[in-house]
Amino acid sequence: MNILVTGSRGQLGSELQELQVNAASHCFYFTDLPEFDITSAGAAESFCREHGIGAIVNCAAYTAVDRAETDVAKAFTVNRDGAAVLAGAARACGALLVHVSTDYIFDGLACRPYREDDPASPCGVYGQSKWEGEEAIRRIGASHMIIRTSWLYSDYGQNFVKTMLRLGRERESIGVVFDQVGTPTWARDLASAIVAILERFDPTRQYAETYHYSNEGVCSWYDFSKAVMSAAGLTCRVRPIETADYPTPARRPHFSVLNKRKIREAWGLDIPHWHESLLRMLDSVTRDT
Ligand SMILES: NC(=O)c1ccc[n+]([C@@H]2O[C@H](COP(=O)([O-])OP(=O)(O)OC[C@H]3O[C@@H](n4cnc5c(N)ncnc54)[C@H](OP(=O)(O)O)[C@@H]3O)[C@@H](O)[C@H]2O)c1
Repeated sequence: MNILVTGSRGQLGSELQELQVNAASHCFYFTDLPEFDITSAGAAESFCREHGIGAIVNCAAYTAVDRAETDVAKAFTVNRDGAAVLAGAARACGALLVHVSTDYIFDGLACRPYREDDPASPCGVYGQSKWEGEEAIRRIGASHMIIRTSWLYSDYGQNFVKTMLRLGRERESIGVVFDQVGTPTWARDLASAIVAILERFDPTRQYAETYHYSNEGVCSWYDFSKAVMSAAGLTCRVRPIETADYPTPARRPHFSVLNKRKIREAWGLDIPHWHESLLRMLDSVTRDT
């Protein structure tokens, strides 16, 4: 099958590129800005027709959560309108759209892990734009799977782990919030889950599914930071601070743990614990450098 991957130079897209060698039964087309803009309607549909695309994996997004608070139009253009464009192209070509969304569509007030059908109530512009992207896909009615994830990190792009590694080398101590709890996700694990689904889905079936995927387990950003420092052998001291001590333009959910039961059972996935994956990621970075 021919598969279009958008936003392929971001964290998740880059991990999919790493894995493609193991998915030899498929032909991947990896695209990103500037040559492939997901907000360009005609271009997406003609690309899919021309290349006989059977599945689209949308890794493209406006992910600057704080900047989105002031760059509102851009966030909605990419995260809502871009998602709608790809859903339109998928429907026109009979392709499956695998779209990645976020834990930030929830307000973080729950006291148990979020299920797929829990009501959305985003805290900020980024979350709202991603939620409206999901809704647009459902409305357009292409065969689709929306996969919400959380706290993505990888060796590629900018993310919390890389920031902690840098600060850990530069500083003697840092303060990290302990009152925001969720689950980190190594982008390579999510990429593997997507490849597993692409290997097994039935192209003759119409899908309309929403799933949650993160690594297993739960931690605060403080715990996560401590784990990075310890695994990397850095002596930087990590101090627990409250969200109020680290104000950001966008409000974040205090609790955004996702319940993964549905995706685990539907596709027989064995999801690694976040700490195990962090060690594997750091190990792979060390081996590559
Ligand atoms: N990062 C997280 O912690 C996190 C958490 C939960 C969910 N997610 C979701 O997971 C998915 C993947 O995230 P990620 O961290 O891999 O994102 P990322 O690293 O920011 O990559 C996104 C990619 O999309 C590209 N892009 C932006 N606008 C585009 C457009 N109009 N057309 C085509 N490409 C465009 C970006 O290019 P430029 O760099 O040039 O803009 C970038 O290469 C996203 O849907 C995100 O919302 C992320």
